[in-house]
Amino acid sequence: MENPQSAIPNPQSAIRNPQSAIPNPQSAIRNPQSAIPNPQSPISRGVFQRIPRLWARVSPRAIRRNLAAIRSRLPRKTALAAVVKSDAYGHGMQLAARVAASEGCAFLAVISVEEAAALRDVGFDCGILVIGPIEPWQATEAVALDLGVFTGNLEVAQALDDAAREQNTRARVHLKIDTGMGRFGFQDAPEEFGPALDRLLQLSHLNLEGAATHFTMADEPQSECTREQTRRFRLVLRMLEARGVRPRWIHAANSGTIVHFPNTAFSLIQTGLVMYDDADPGPYPLVRAGLAMYGVYPGPEPEAALELEPAMTLGCRIADIRGVPTGFSVSYAGTFKTTRPSRLAVLPVGYGCGYPRHASGKAEAIIRGRRAPLAGRITMNITVADVTDVPEARVGDTALLFGREGSDLLRVEEVARAAGTIPYEVLCNVGRCTPRLLEED
Ligand SMILES: Cc1ncc(COP(=O)(O)O)c(C=O)c1O
Repeated sequence: MENPQSAIPNPQSAIRNPQSAIPNPQSAIRNPQSAIPNPQSPISRGVFQRIPRLWARVSPRAIRRNLAAIRSRLPRKTALAAVVKSDAYGHGMQLAARVAASEGCAFLAVISVEEAAALRDVGFDCGILVIGPIEPWQATEAVALDLGVFTGNLEVAQALDDAAREQNTRARVHLKIDTGMGRFGFQDAPEEFGPALDRLLQLSHLNLEGAATHFTMADEPQSECTREQTRRFRLVLRMLEARGVRPRWIHAANSGTIVHFPNTAFSLIQTGLVMYDDADPGPYPLVRAGLAMYGVYPGPEPEAALELEPAMTLGCRIADIRGVPTGFSVSYAGTFKTTRPSRLAVLPVGYGCGYPRHASGKAEAIIRGRRAPLAGRITMNITVADVTDVPEARVGDTALLFGREGSDLLRVEEVARAAGTIPYEVLCNVGRCTPRLLEED
């Protein structure tokens, strides 16, 4: 669907008799039952077509293209784990998982056993990796669902081993090594990891199929941190090798790494580089791609060498336009006053739908191909745009808040900067109350 306008029905034909949409307050009071949805009502029967006034449009094609772009940037034979946690950063977990699976990603990465179960429930039988910490009591379900599990302590490892023994199988363990992130994982220091590894090797129902770490500053190309973490992770890999443990998957890279340190994943694989074939048990480099898959650049500045297409577009229709005089105060606390006779457009969007309040006074919308600054505070459901310099703007026009609309592009990174936050948060916050439109694949 190139143009969301084309998906929007004609309001005239949609509402045949607008009067019938107005409830009679008298009858509503007399009959409290009228508050209960009536399946016979014109609305329930779908007589009124809803016209989206605000939408988050998701493009599976953009996700596909981004996965291809990511692949082309990485050395051959690097496998991808598509990070679809947190409802695929607001894009819709099932949709993103379907695209990623059809593009041959080795894993879908989720944050919890609950998210993994939701994918299994709807039939995803591919590799699923839980990259968040699990609790020991979840081991039984994790094994039953055949999940790869980030394992960062011996209690969870023991629980996975017990569950796998009971289920007469082996648990898929990805050893999570803390090389500096400081959240969870086995400490990488040899005096800590050595004894832990000795204990792990006694657990006979674990399949140590992965070794992983997570970078803290991969979105900052100047930082030494990624190199230092890589060095520390490599020492752990040597310890594994010295004890004869050769995990099939070695992974550390996220989107920042893909953009700024594309060779890191591969450089972690020390042996057998050119000998891979499908029968080779590995180790294979695996990259966990989240943000980049959704077409968004991590870090402060876009990296021109990797072209990413935003997969989510947040847009709305102008609900009202008013001409106002100089000195007119707009929105809560009157933080904005017009400095000239102005035209103000009312946009039905706000922080209640995930558009960040902290972008007040800084972000812009694109209307009829031109930038319109937002005026005054962004409120829960209403935001005002100054369209004085877009004189042709009309009620019903599309206002692009971020993403792509035809040839217009407004990156969510820009909105995040205006709000003093990161694009991850803006995307995730596009709430469930924002209608989703799905572009054709
Ligand atoms: C452990 C882990 N790996 C990979 C990712 C994906 O990161 P990105 O979205 O920057 O690619 C995340 C995201 O939070 C993560 O927590």
